[in-house]
Amino acid sequence: EKGGYEHFMLKEIHEQPKAVQDTIGAYLKGNQIDFSEIGLEDEELASIERFYIIGCGSAYHVAMAAKYVLEDMTQIPVEIDIASEFRYRNPILVKNSLVVIISQSGETADSLAALRLAKEKGAAVLGIVNVVGSSIARESDYTLYTYAGPEISVATTKAYSTQLVAMYLVAMRTAQIRGLLSDEDCEKMIAELQTLPKKIQKILDDKERIQWFASKYANAKDMFFLGRGLDYAISLEGSLKMKEISYIHSEAYAAGELKHGTISLIEDNTLVVGILTQSNLYEKTVSNMVEVKSRGAYLMGLTTYGNYSIEDNADFSVYVPKTDPHFATSLAIIPLQLLGYYVSVAKGLDVDKPRNLAKSVTVE
Ligand code: BG6
Repeated sequence: EKGGYEHFMLKEIHEQPKAVQDTIGAYLKGNQIDFSEIGLEDEELASIERFYIIGCGSAYHVAMAAKYVLEDMTQIPVEIDIASEFRYRNPILVKNSLVVIISQSGETADSLAALRLAKEKGAAVLGIVNVVGSSIARESDYTLYTYAGPEISVATTKAYSTQLVAMYLVAMRTAQIRGLLSDEDCEKMIAELQTLPKKIQKILDDKERIQWFASKYANAKDMFFLGRGLDYAISLEGSLKMKEISYIHSEAYAAGELKHGTISLIEDNTLVVGILTQSNLYEKTVSNMVEVKSRGAYLMGLTTYGNYSIEDNADFSVYVPKTDPHFATSLAIIPLQLLGYYVSVAKGLDVDKPRNLAKSVTVE
């Protein structure tokens, strides 16, 4: 059932190239992104004045990554919210809003309540859902299925990855319709998107290095993940993976915010993971790396091939293949999933069923 893997989580981590490929393929017609089969017509995308993206847990982290990508590509303002916050704050939904609800199970109680509230307020709802026929899939105006296949491990990996690519497709198509992305550039981006499965596979082929590092740091008490922009969104997800399956206290911080408090927690040998996939922010984040390093942190740097100057500060460096910066999250998250997984294994924990957590939270 686990296909020869020790845990569902490791199996699902390895299923990501296929899950990503299947999800991209489902919404391509020739070399065009096509949502007509889910009823999401170009006119609808052309009229959007605001996106609200909502989810819980990792789905919320997808929302955060999507905000950076959507705003940059479409110039449409994006608000994101944790479903349990959105539903109780009497949100203002401006006209021509598209509310996007992201959910693997399609049954998360708070996400479903957020969907119903959005509809009550007259907004159109796009559900990004993995489980066919689930409540969120049924109640959304448009349902964009992800093709991750069944996900058993409580900690999500492949569903998260498919949600990301689904959001890239929405951003690209919207930008194209609005004339912000030429047909030619869109085709180039699609071609790059289609290289992600291979690039993810390349990272997976190198997993022993992460395993070695994880076994060395499995007894860490605290961990910090730092990044700016999209790298901050990746930090949140990397940090969540670490806490949920390894029970290590971990925090994700926007790198520039560090000096406003958190840096007081850095002491000799505190493990800090710096994420630097965005070349326009590289030097800025490096300067934060230097700050933590000078306070004794043990530093893991996660960046793209070519940025070898990271080794001036990092004690351990991990490189992922280059891609369009909008897609970097899809690659940088893979080593962090592996890190969480292997730390959990090294500690002998129940990786697939971490304490106190459920795969799908259908009560409030
Ligand atoms: C959680 C899971 O409690 O629910 C997370 O442990 C998940 O992995 C979150 O991200 C949201 O679930 P769903 O099914 O709505 O995506």
